[in-house]
Amino acid sequence: MSGIEKQSDKAGFDLERLSPELQAQLRPLYQREESTESYLEINKIHQGDARDLLLRIKPNTVALSIWSPPYFVGKEYEANLSFQDWQMLLATVVQRHFSILKPGGFLVINIADILVFKDSAMPRIQAEVISQRRSPVTREDVLNAKERHPHYNRYQLAELLGVSEQIIDRRLHGNNIRGGKSEVQTRVKIVGGLVEEWALNAGFYPYDRRIWVKDAAWENSRWASLSYRSVDEFEYLYIFWKPGVTKVDRQRLTRTEWREWGSRGVWHIPSVRANDDHEAKFPIKLPRRVIRLLTDPWDVVLDCFMGSGTTAVAAIKESRQFTGVELSFQYVELARKNVEQEMLQPTLPFNR
Ligand SMILES: C[S@@+](CC[C@H](N)C(=O)[O-])C[C@H]1O[C@@H](n2cnc3c(N)ncnc32)[C@H](O)[C@@H]1O
Repeated sequence: MSGIEKQSDKAGFDLERLSPELQAQLRPLYQREESTESYLEINKIHQGDARDLLLRIKPNTVALSIWSPPYFVGKEYEANLSFQDWQMLLATVVQRHFSILKPGGFLVINIADILVFKDSAMPRIQAEVISQRRSPVTREDVLNAKERHPHYNRYQLAELLGVSEQIIDRRLHGNNIRGGKSEVQTRVKIVGGLVEEWALNAGFYPYDRRIWVKDAAWENSRWASLSYRSVDEFEYLYIFWKPGVTKVDRQRLTRTEWREWGSRGVWHIPSVRANDDHEAKFPIKLPRRVIRLLTDPWDVVLDCFMGSGTTAVAAIKESRQFTGVELSFQYVELARKNVEQEMLQPTLPFNR
């Protein structure tokens, strides 16, 4: 009997029912079960690269994995990643989740679109900024004048319209809304399609998605005021399902909780203001809600981009077990300290 068959017997999950392509892709992930390598201990924060340590988690044991990865927005811990590296990191991490999640379990990814994504192929945005225009002469006026006098140069056009030649130039060639003319343009990179592709390739199915509305970040209001772009104030929760039996138990939440957030697609949760010890923490309410919604007490909750330990603390508060993985030694120390502190606390009532 092969390792795969043994695995499917134990967990009630049959790899053979997947498409031949997925079977070929996932078989090596299950075959590794036959190795004698020791599995990661639960209720511990482990230091290392998620890509390596996920291979050391016991197959079919994690009820929920919830994490927020590097977003490719230039944080210190992702500074050495190219966009290609970043995609490879996340695609690999998602793929290595398939065998470790319990059948019927969930992978929840908190991520945001990349709002300032450099694209060298993008044409320069030519914005006419009305609020900064002193002369009433518009681009249309200049174009009409050029049509009437096709041989006029900009000095002659300036004289004709009673403005400076700089204004003629500006109206014709526009203002660069952000920085010098030689700067690479930036656009929005929508990440949902990528995340869906990584998950489908790994064998998961998109099950749900929610929006986390945080408080508005006004740092980018300079460019927001020179364009039609909105400020940064929401992120996504993408929820993927591993085929298998999923227990649906609405008793996990109270009626009020179901009404207020369990059944709602938009969650309003203020972001963490004091990012003093870690630069990108999510608020504890976020993993705590997901844990309450999708798991039972004593289930194992994984976060492989653990940062300061928020998910582990949320799991402890909800009487779940956890496994944490984090690359940075400094954050591993921080997460361990936060977990230790939480273990000493009597569980506080959940602020719903
Ligand atoms: C967005 S932060 C997560 C913050 C966390 N949710 C919290 O509340 O503290 C992403 C984390 O992933 C870690 N990280 C980056 N690359 C990693 C990798 N390859 N493996 C494991 N962790 C990694 C970073 O050091 C950072 O702490």
